Amino acid sequence: MLEYKEYLAEILIDEKTLQKRVAELGAQISHDYEGQDLLLICILRGGMIFLVDLMRQITVPHQIDFMAIASYGSGARQSEGDVRLTLDLQTNIYSKNVLLVEDIIDSGHTLSYVLEFLTTRQPKSLRVCTLLDKKERREVDVPIHYCGFVIPNKFVFGYGLDLDEYYRNLPFIGIVDTNKYRPQA
Ligand code: IMP
Ligand code: MG
Repeated sequence: MLEYKEYLAEILIDEKTLQKRVAELGAQISHDYEGQDLLLICILRGGMIFLVDLMRQITVPHQIDFMAIASYGSGARQSEGDVRLTLDLQTNIYSKNVLLVEDIIDSGHTLSYVLEFLTTRQPKSLRVCTLLDKKERREVDVPIHYCGFVIPNKFVFGYGLDLDEYYRNLPFIGIVDTNKYRPQA
């Protein structure tokens, strides 16, 4: 894999802007869940960096857990609606306040599947916090309670989001130069 700069068209959201917004979301969540217990669920792997930064901005006591799902297709086209669970939670979410932490909502199929699945386990409450929302790509309607940024229909990477599993470590969200890199169809 080459240097990330080879694939970067432009920086969409810089580090400072990201951190500021994550702090705002953390403050809002802390306010909304004041006096209540909270479980943050991160969907691997894209939401990992966001979770780690966000939880450090949340002042109410909370637990974390992880789940993973696979979608057929990859990259920008993880949106064909065929989704399955590959890693289940360790935590029993029955009667808990659950906040799902996601990197990006695109078609909405992934989230829709996860919400349906979690609902069957009867949490006390179930909300969604996503860093990014590609609103114009939505195919199924999904409720989003906390959103970092609505972004245009461009393939992005960095801050947890990958290009062929690389570059998740970048501190900013970058737009892919599609002349140099084609997201898998
Ligand atoms: P959805 O089911 O179409 O909403 O797909 C959401 C998933 O697609 C995300 O969790 C990401 O894994 C992936 N995805 C969608 N757009 C992008 C992108 O621009 N960069 C990286 N991954 C993306
Ligand atoms: Mg994801």
